[in-house]
Amino acid sequence: MSTRDRLLSYFKEKRGEWVSGESISREISISRSAVWKHVRKLREEGYVITSAPKKGYVLQRDSHRLLPGEIREGLETGVLGQKDILYFRETDSTNSRAWDLAARGAPEGTLVVAEQQTKGRGRLGRDWFSPPGGGIYLTMILRPTLSPREAPKTTLLTAVALAEALLTLTGLEVHIKWPNDILIKRKKLAGILTEISAETDAINYMIIGLGLNVNIPSFPDNLAAKTTTILMETGKPFPRVRIVREFLERFERYYEVFNRKGFGPVLTRWKEMTHMIGGRVQVETLGRHYEGVVQDIDADGVLILKDGTGKSHRIFSGDVNLS
Ligand code: BTN
Repeated sequence: MSTRDRLLSYFKEKRGEWVSGESISREISISRSAVWKHVRKLREEGYVITSAPKKGYVLQRDSHRLLPGEIREGLETGVLGQKDILYFRETDSTNSRAWDLAARGAPEGTLVVAEQQTKGRGRLGRDWFSPPGGGIYLTMILRPTLSPREAPKTTLLTAVALAEALLTLTGLEVHIKWPNDILIKRKKLAGILTEISAETDAINYMIIGLGLNVNIPSFPDNLAAKTTTILMETGKPFPRVRIVREFLERFERYYEVFNRKGFGPVLTRWKEMTHMIGGRVQVETLGRHYEGVVQDIDADGVLILKDGTGKSHRIFSGDVNLS
């Protein structure tokens, strides 16, 4: 453990209690000036540590940032987040960072997280609005034993884990819109971007990025009408780290179920969390437009739509508008 980590866990152990510089220096085996230097650094990371002459130091509040140590604290996963978590105050896109890491051999379970993205990417070449501090911008690296055509199932699995985590923690009525949006009252709260590197019949690695609007206070005009945040829905900011942990734990459980029992149980849960089946939709795919009623999401995660002439279409990917 680094000196920083030892000092922080000492402060956490004594949370709310004054601890003298002398006792810290004895417990951690560092000089008093090193204590001071590390306290300054922890404050820069967002920890609220008060100091007073004759009393010493007291940890008043943990950092609000999505620091790796904060994510790992009490995280009940076997793999996800238990290896490397790369943290950026600012990066172009966590998916792009993860892509580079995976190409250099980063193992399954590696995470990339950022406070802000300058080139956050959405599906279909769109941008993902990623201002500092208020959102979760998180990417996971996976190395599943799947064929490329099964990759969309993992996106649906991600949506189930995220929707359940949000429902459990906030009680908000979240719904999934095929394939990967999390909505509250038809407004978008979160999106998922899955990218794969694959051979013809095997995936080398899979990058799953999620963007979640947690404490963002407002959106630019072009997004305002169709986007929402937890802050807007509840009137209160929500600790982002709790959502990250809950999501990772649920994702890992579903991922194990998927590997052991197949996609059935995941799909069943997905269908329970959508309002789409039986609803009228318009779908834009590359070069085609469909309108009709959603019949089902089939065992491959494909959208089955019946158009006005009664003809059924299997739609593998696209952008859905609910009518
Ligand atoms: C969508 O609904 O269009 C998908 C949005 C995915 C956004 C996330 S934010 C973290 C990760 N990094 C990116 O550049 N994109 C994904």
